[in-house]
Amino acid sequence: MKKRYFLTVSTLAVLALTSASVMAQDNTFKIGLILPMTGQQATTGRQIEAAARLYMAQNGDTVAGKKIQLIVKDDTSVPDVTKRLAQDLVVNDKVNVLAGFGITPSALATAPIATQSKTPQVVMAAATSSITQASPYIVRTSFTLPQAAVALADWAPKNGIKKVVTLVSDYGPGIDAEKYFKERLTFNGGQITEALRVPLRNPDFAPFLQKVRDLKPDALFVFVPSGAGAAVMKQFLERGMDKAGIKLIGTGDVTDDDQLNDMGDGALGVVTSHHYSTAHPSALNKKFVEAFGKANKGLRPNFMAVGGYDGMRVIYEALRITKGNGGGDALLAAMKGQIFESPRGPMFIDAQTRDVVQNIYLRKVEKKDGQLYNVEFDVIKDVKDPGKTK
Ligand code: DHB
Repeated sequence: MKKRYFLTVSTLAVLALTSASVMAQDNTFKIGLILPMTGQQATTGRQIEAAARLYMAQNGDTVAGKKIQLIVKDDTSVPDVTKRLAQDLVVNDKVNVLAGFGITPSALATAPIATQSKTPQVVMAAATSSITQASPYIVRTSFTLPQAAVALADWAPKNGIKKVVTLVSDYGPGIDAEKYFKERLTFNGGQITEALRVPLRNPDFAPFLQKVRDLKPDALFVFVPSGAGAAVMKQFLERGMDKAGIKLIGTGDVTDDDQLNDMGDGALGVVTSHHYSTAHPSALNKKFVEAFGKANKGLRPNFMAVGGYDGMRVIYEALRITKGNGGGDALLAAMKGQIFESPRGPMFIDAQTRDVVQNIYLRKVEKKDGQLYNVEFDVIKDVKDPGKTK
């Protein structure tokens, strides 16, 4: 008798749990956030997760009557893992949106899953131009390497830099950076004297930098992914390349705000082009930097953080526009054409390309209040991805 009583109670408990989870299902809006939380790209994951959580803390976790649930998964930046996690999030967790994607191969590996399941895929980090063409369900809130590289190739020859050696990580974004920098520099009368590529995994920059030293160009143009810039800077300075009259220039990935302050005074004067600096002088950005630091033991938000923060804005707004009733197609439609002020400046999701249109800034590393910053000194407004016009 006693046993039966217990059975009945536990059966009821199971029923209650089941109906609670069914209800949760209906009222929950799930975002599957796939990021490299460990391994070589871990700083990207840490920055984007922190930014997504900050956005939720500031804007609440209920939108259009739906409770937002963030499901964070660590793909260790291995694309096969990214793909398996994406599949699992779509099939088992029934996420409404896939987001994150620290490196290009991870974003590309997920694209077919987004297409087949009609799930919007919000790319918050990866920056190879072609990514948005891999699925009509991809929307990007980061940047593209051609956007950043072309601006620097316009600046360089006007500032005494004619002969340049390029040094890039040997995969999508690096190839984009190399190609678009070269094309524009050559158009502007400059010259690439050597194009060097280093492996993405465990790169050893030393032999490449030695070669650059021997070639003695006016400048070395560098693209390495977020988190690798400090190693390049250290070895560049250790070899006395700056003293040999070789300037270091690059897209803003190399003077990443996540690492810049630890690079030392040798980084002073380095000019880069990028869509975001912690030092961007707008009221909105000042608030963003302060709140981000407060919530993360003084950590500076870098360009990855802003991609994550704005990605959450795009998702929240799409949910609001669709009044919480839309499926993947309706959400995607509501993401296209969004225009808003980001901590980076004005930002627009081009409805045609689903890619970000934004200002690109020229910046120089300077010291302010004893800290190193990428200080913006020029701006090219509303830059579309040059890779989309080919
Ligand atoms: C990519 C990764 C980065 O860390 C970065 O700074 C730029 C591009 C990428 O893999 O697309």
